[in-house]
Amino acid sequence: MRRTILTALLLAGATLSAGDPAKDLPKFQGGDLQKYWTDACARCHGVNGNGRDNSGKPLPDAGFDFTDSRKANKKKDSDWVKVTLEGKDKMPAFKDKMSEADAQKMITEIVRKFAAKR
Ligand code: HEC
Repeated sequence: MRRTILTALLLAGATLSAGDPAKDLPKFQGGDLQKYWTDACARCHGVNGNGRDNSGKPLPDAGFDFTDSRKANKKKDSDWVKVTLEGKDKMPAFKDKMSEADAQKMITEIVRKFAAKR
């Protein structure tokens, strides 16, 4: 009986953490920023930056559609770097996961290109 309750609690815990996209974000280890986008950002923003999963369903914690060039063009790189490093509401801070220089590159080389690719 006790074991059953314990197992149920463990399962509930595992399900909760799996459902939280801000949990277990990997550190940027250098190298491929496109891969880091897929590993760390796509769970909320989508692989293509449009805030949708691979089946086209809107992701609950996307916050912004980076493929919307009209909206994206109103945003400054410096502000996007700041949000990436420091976070904002549901957007987690990445300052302990990547350097400012890497965050800057992430914005100019990956995030900006989502609008251009449309
Ligand atoms: C847990 C979900 C989550 C993850 C993971 C995540 N983001 Fe976000 N992001 C958000 C949300 C939600 C917002 C909107 C925040 C707001 O304005 O309230 C946002 C906003 C942003 C913005 C600002 C967009 C604007 O409104 O102008 C940038 C830039 C950004 N994210 C980049 C990234 C990058 C780069 C990564 C990966 C290194 C990442 N995000 C990972 C949820 C996430």
